Amino acid sequence: MKDWWKETTIYQIYPRSFYDSNGDGIGDLPGIIEKLDYIRDMGFETIWLSPHYASPQRDFGYDITDYFSVAPEYGTTDDALALIDEVHSRDMKIVFDMILNHTSDQHPWFLESRSSKDNPRRDWYIWKKGKGGGKPPTNWACLPGGSGWKYDSTTDEWFFHNFLDFQPDLNFRNPEVKQAMFETMRYWLDRGVDGFRLDIFHSIFKDDQFRDNPFSWKYVPTSDFDEGYFQKLEYNINRPETFELAREVRALIDEYEPDRFVVGEVFGKNVVKKYLGPNQDGLNLILLFDLIELQGNDKKSEEIRGILNNYETNYATPYIPTYCLGNHDRRRYMSRIAGNADLARLLALLQYTARGVPITYYGDEIGIPDGDLPHMGAKDATAHKYWWLPPAVARGLNLYVNRDGCRTPMQWNGEKNAGFSKEGDSEPWLPVHPDYRQCNVGFQRTQPFSLLNVHRELLHLRKEMDCLRRGSMHLLEGVPEPVVAYSRKGQGQELRIFMNFSPAPVRFSHSSGKLRFSTSGETALEDGYTKLGPWSGLVLEL
Ligand code: GLC
Ligand code: CA
Repeated sequence: MKDWWKETTIYQIYPRSFYDSNGDGIGDLPGIIEKLDYIRDMGFETIWLSPHYASPQRDFGYDITDYFSVAPEYGTTDDALALIDEVHSRDMKIVFDMILNHTSDQHPWFLESRSSKDNPRRDWYIWKKGKGGGKPPTNWACLPGGSGWKYDSTTDEWFFHNFLDFQPDLNFRNPEVKQAMFETMRYWLDRGVDGFRLDIFHSIFKDDQFRDNPFSWKYVPTSDFDEGYFQKLEYNINRPETFELAREVRALIDEYEPDRFVVGEVFGKNVVKKYLGPNQDGLNLILLFDLIELQGNDKKSEEIRGILNNYETNYATPYIPTYCLGNHDRRRYMSRIAGNADLARLLALLQYTARGVPITYYGDEIGIPDGDLPHMGAKDATAHKYWWLPPAVARGLNLYVNRDGCRTPMQWNGEKNAGFSKEGDSEPWLPVHPDYRQCNVGFQRTQPFSLLNVHRELLHLRKEMDCLRRGSMHLLEGVPEPVVAYSRKGQGQELRIFMNFSPAPVRFSHSSGKLRFSTSGETALEDGYTKLGPWSGLVLEL
């Protein structure tokens, strides 16, 4: 189908944590292949695979040393090709993660670049003299905080990194760099991959005049990540050249048949829409993080209504919003909503019935909570920066601090290591969350209104009802305040979705319809009235 990506559903896999097929404690590509039937039977249509390329794994694959090969602990290039084939043979799609902004500092390009000022690859990265007195060339902060510049004594110059200091930024102003990175994309596209998730795409270009960022009163970054550390991140992210690059990347992937797509990780207030291009000729989709910002149980109806209104205004058709509750960088949503399992079911209802592309992070379909893991000795390198920050404070901030907590192994069953490691000889690379005896795929399958079954039924309803995939969406008025309600209409169908974001039951008059789905089973229709139990929701067909 042309434009299939506009109505797909995405499941994000963090390969290290999904399924370990050989008992070394680390998830791998053959392990993913073994679990593909699970993903298909759930009803997901597209897989986004977090990086599986060769890497020293200081940032677990977001620091690449060879874009054309696979990290040995994950498998071989043949395994990656087999994965693509196996996905396609199940009528699903797969996109890879693509890190254009930076490489590992161990990448041969960087080793050359750093070796001398006249090395042919010197200009492949961003090098500059300091301001004198040990000061970096500009005041630019990197995204996790602290200066984005690192001094290198080999040549007495500084190199720039928008993420951690072992992830030097490539210089996209050099045409050879752009060409080399476009070749890496072609390499995998030619091998059948259906597109890419583009890592911190918004940070690729930096100001060519190296102007200092203006001052801001904010130290803790805003949720848009474009202000913080006492500056407005004006000159090191969201530069106009990056919007142009989005169109070039789109032109590249549009050369391929069948359709491919790219979804960008971009942050910033009011500017991110520009990545979609003036005529929908930029990135196909961008990740919108509003649901990842949700915390607590209060005022959820107001917040959700705000998000929906914003998307339906700023990303009205032909734009397509994306809905994700979690990813490999942020606290698990089950912990952010204080373990409210009913609210979790409502959020699933929202995610799969609102107009847009839903993206589900592995384990969120069973509600794995965030692992309570120490900053000291953490596997995640950002935690090494913030070892001094008390975990309780970090949790409240909901920022990148210790990302180990959201990367614990997938919980398949109630057996040893939650069934993550086959032979179980080695300990899993991160400890399994202690709640795995109840919170696992095997157990939730047998429970009628388990989160897993709610996800599965909604994914199947979405396949069945065209109006959920490509219909229009309208918020409905005339429902009590804690209720969020909208209709999805199209192709001669109409569904109405009602969600009670409160601990008290509500009852309101509303034209009846056929009950197609309920998050709790308790929810019912009475003559002329719709009744919603605490934190419950339903779908009516008109
Ligand atoms: C993105 C990734 C994150 C990674 C960073 C640097 O934010 O999601 O995991 O550490 O970019 O590549
Ligand atoms: Ca393994």
